[in-house]
Amino acid sequence: MSSTLSRRDWLRASGLLTAGLTASFHFAKAAPATTYGQSVFVDEFAPIKTAGIDSPPDTMPKLRARLLANENPLGIAPSAKEALTKAADIGNRYAWTEFAELKGMIATDEGVKPNNIMMSPGSSDILMAAATHFAKGGGTILTSAMTYDDLLERAQKQGAKIVALPMTKEYKFDLAAIKAKLTPDVKLVYLVNPNNPTGTILPASELEAFCREVAPKVPVFLDEAYIDFYEPAERPKLGKLVAEGHNVILARTFSKIHGFAGLRLGYAIATPETLKMLKPYTNGEFAVSITTLMAGIASYQDKDWQNHCRAENAKARDYTAKALTGLGYEVIPSSANFMLFPIRMKTKSFSEQMFASGIGIQTRDFNGQPYCRVSIGTMDEMAMFIDGFKKVVG
Ligand SMILES: Cc1ncc(COP(=O)(O)O)c(C=O)c1O
Repeated sequence: MSSTLSRRDWLRASGLLTAGLTASFHFAKAAPATTYGQSVFVDEFAPIKTAGIDSPPDTMPKLRARLLANENPLGIAPSAKEALTKAADIGNRYAWTEFAELKGMIATDEGVKPNNIMMSPGSSDILMAAATHFAKGGGTILTSAMTYDDLLERAQKQGAKIVALPMTKEYKFDLAAIKAKLTPDVKLVYLVNPNNPTGTILPASELEAFCREVAPKVPVFLDEAYIDFYEPAERPKLGKLVAEGHNVILARTFSKIHGFAGLRLGYAIATPETLKMLKPYTNGEFAVSITTLMAGIASYQDKDWQNHCRAENAKARDYTAKALTGLGYEVIPSSANFMLFPIRMKTKSFSEQMFASGIGIQTRDFNGQPYCRVSIGTMDEMAMFIDGFKKVVG
């Protein structure tokens, strides 16, 4: 399988990596516990080979519905646009007070102190820093089989062994199985909630209990890229664990509900000691531009826009799930801005035909089963997706 392209190679080859479209996902084999080693790593990433690989980069501008990167189809908030315009006037200045302003707002909401927060150009920078730091000198990173691969891939390249446990039958992280695998060799537990690509969530109480039990032994990295799609009242509030001094690292991004995938803004919430250890592996906070930061401050405060995006996403997601169920497909219940479902065609052929009809999606094979992951676009885009899907699957 040495000829297999990794996800990153594919993105690079297709020009998507440079375009910042790294919102892909990765399936590893499930049962029994999967151990990535240097040699099997490529094998484990083999499904990438069929993941839209035949969509050449010049297909992208021609897409009628771009449903492959979990972007916000509604764009950025009008308030953020206004802030961007104003920020252009001070583009010659380094940002100082702006960092403090945004951190202050986040800290108040999360119940932490500003020194528990580190800003970054998207959360990828935080993921990469954690991968490099925790993989130093080897050791194991414990996670689940069907999850986001960026941190894992980097950590593996830095010498860590990745152990990806099977998910529960509901496609959720199996927290009990993870706990049972904690050995002195484990350097980090990586969880994604809601998870990409399954869209599944862990109940807030279970997650909190897990972190309280595990974090005193092993740091827990919680990738919350899609957390804003939860109803605010139902969100796990794990900032309090950080405030209590637990070794929990929360990674957040503005790329999703705020629509900043291209503008690049994210942050980590962790203890000051942990942030200090991660910092040398980041590009530093000044990698965030003053324009993005000012737009971020506006967007962060614009709860109306966030509620609007969340509601529109839920509406289009329900429509899509109902339409697919009506066609006899079993959709994994999603709490995010994408959904995953098994298909009955080979991924390559499915992907090719969908792209040819102007609908960009992602596909994966997992345990011999082909799946489609479709990002949630506007209602019009989802209607196009269903229409295209019907034609392709016959
Ligand atoms: C689970 C998850 N984490 C992190 C990221 C990184 O996003 P960004 O670097 O745009 O913040 C993504 C992107 O899609 C993601 O799906």
